[in-house]
Amino acid sequence: NTIEKGTYEWSAPSNIALVKYWGKKDHQIPANPSISFTLNHCKTITKLSFEKKSTSIDINETGNSFSFDLLFEGKPKEDFKPKIQKFFERIEVYCPYLKEYHFTIDTQNTFPHSSGIASSASGMAALAMNIMNLEKALNPTITDDYFHQKASFLARLGSGSACRSIKGNIVVWGKHKEIEGSSDLFGIEFSSILHSNFENYQDTILLVDKGEKQVSSTVGHDLMHNHPFAEQRFLQAHHNLSAIKSVLENGNLEEFIKIVESEALTLHSMMMTSMPYFILMKSNTLEIINKIWKFRNETKIPVCFTLDAGANVHVLYPENVRVETLQFIKDELVGYCQNGQYICDEIGFGAQKL
Ligand code: PMV
Repeated sequence: NTIEKGTYEWSAPSNIALVKYWGKKDHQIPANPSISFTLNHCKTITKLSFEKKSTSIDINETGNSFSFDLLFEGKPKEDFKPKIQKFFERIEVYCPYLKEYHFTIDTQNTFPHSSGIASSASGMAALAMNIMNLEKALNPTITDDYFHQKASFLARLGSGSACRSIKGNIVVWGKHKEIEGSSDLFGIEFSSILHSNFENYQDTILLVDKGEKQVSSTVGHDLMHNHPFAEQRFLQAHHNLSAIKSVLENGNLEEFIKIVESEALTLHSMMMTSMPYFILMKSNTLEIINKIWKFRNETKIPVCFTLDAGANVHVLYPENVRVETLQFIKDELVGYCQNGQYICDEIGFGAQKL
């Protein structure tokens, strides 16, 4: 098939890891397996327009290089371009048709700009789905499974955790002996029957610090090379993934909380014990954690926290305690957020064609 031009539009959600990916080998291969909730409302929406280069006009200019314009919320965005350029270079061997087209990539997020919520996972996943859409047009025989698997494979090359944003509602990435079909190369849907406790699980994201990331995840992953505790940490992630697999099946929320909070604090402790070392939590992060612990102790409501590589706090809780937990968040936690900002999200179902 030849396709002259067209436009696709896909959305892809963010995700929040329960067992964290921190440390990688070459070619975006994770040092340990991870598992995440796919989110529902925090998304990137990306429109990809493409037009085949006309050999006579474009060949000298762009014939043998990638040619694309990048728009963010409809306006040119030069500073995102190197990341996309690098992404195209990495995926070129798997998508040899890319250099035949000129692309316009028009992208926007549903969450506030510079909210401290990383858009690299949702952004790379949305772009990968669009590229696979073009591939499907060029080769209509590819199956749906292949489409999604390769989209996850490509997204991983853009940003590791992005490979967990293609599918929902829980995704495993990285080879693990107890999870059939798991791979270092792409994310797979968690296929066990999920206990009803986790249906519509809630994630309220407290925006503690909306500033630029202090440490990019690329630098962070690199700090796990020669890290004194790296090997133990990677082993622990394997154990925690086995344990959380059982928990997701049996619904034991007490165990869930232990694993998830320990994973968040371990991620941060890896940063505190690397060289150079970093503290990515702010004092308000700690205030929030202590409030959550107090509330949980007093009410026995199974609410817990997790963290990304930053100061924001993800508050996780079952849907059946939504009303009282939201009340607690409004009364006691929102005061610690920058400009009182927080985002209510929940577990969701992955990338969608618009
Ligand atoms: O996908 P990256 O390279 O931005 O790494 C993300 C790492 C964490 O968000 C801290 C953990 C995870 O598993 O998502």
